[in-house]
Amino acid sequence: MARSLCQITDLTADELLELFDLCAQMKKGETAPKPFEGKSVACIFTKESLRTRVSFEVGIHELGGQALYITDKEIKLGQRETVADAARVLSRYVATIMIRTFAQSDVDELAEHASVPVVNGLTDLVHPCQILGDYFTAMEHLGKRDRYRVAYVGDGNNIANSWLNLASRLPLDLRIGTDEDCHPDADILKLAQANSDSRILITADPKEAVADADVLYTDVWASMGQKHLVEEKEEKLRKYQLNGSLLAAADPGAIVMHCLPAERNKEITDEVMDGPQSVVFDQAENRLHIQKAIMVFLLK
Ligand code: CP
Ligand code: NVA
Repeated sequence: MARSLCQITDLTADELLELFDLCAQMKKGETAPKPFEGKSVACIFTKESLRTRVSFEVGIHELGGQALYITDKEIKLGQRETVADAARVLSRYVATIMIRTFAQSDVDELAEHASVPVVNGLTDLVHPCQILGDYFTAMEHLGKRDRYRVAYVGDGNNIANSWLNLASRLPLDLRIGTDEDCHPDADILKLAQANSDSRILITADPKEAVADADVLYTDVWASMGQKHLVEEKEEKLRKYQLNGSLLAAADPGAIVMHCLPAERNKEITDEVMDGPQSVVFDQAENRLHIQKAIMVFLLK
């Protein structure tokens, strides 16, 4: 079985630090330019995407490879044939498989049966490429620190779960401000709490979450595949809106993050998203660099 990135916890703390170094070298153009020369990467999407699709395709091209954009219309993963058989077949053609889909179990199954690396480009449970890129962005803006104080306010979704996954590997002071009905995944939370180097707080008080934080993060209240819950989520999460008053409760040097796409003036106000502390487009750019680093790292 090849090394895959199904969740951040697939990598050790040392490997994560190695990955961030590789990402920095990639961004500066200091690495071997074409490690994917003559190779193809299957990019499977069963959900919509702008950043993930384009940054993977551009990244694969920059590494010398060819990206194959595959939607569920063609392959009907798990319906036309089993996920395991699709994994075995794709492994005969491509060097890496990237997948964005609903069920985490499909990504895990693909990785179990593929003989090439599988990269999770988002599931309902986690979004590892995003949070690895975001941690790299935090390092660029805040400098290397022993422990960032990260406040995530909003839905306990795949983004919140991925921050927790990171906290189970690297020291983080992670506060999640959310409604009691929108908590992150219980098992992922337990795993993060087991890392004595990290501090985890789940609170219903948004001000408590952001107090002294140096990273403020939010995401849409209803994720892809949950759009039928939009009104219910809005009702529960309105008080966690990332706005000027919440920003004022954080460290004055705090950076503002959002994985995008944003629903402006719902989970984040224009004032904050377009304000001087916002690094949201740096985050989007760094998806390109981190994913190139992930693909190269897993290939070796
Ligand atoms: N942040 C992110 O993954 O964006 P897309 O859904 O557009 O890929
Ligand atoms: N939580 C969001 C992230 C989008 C990048 C979603 O899953 O729709």
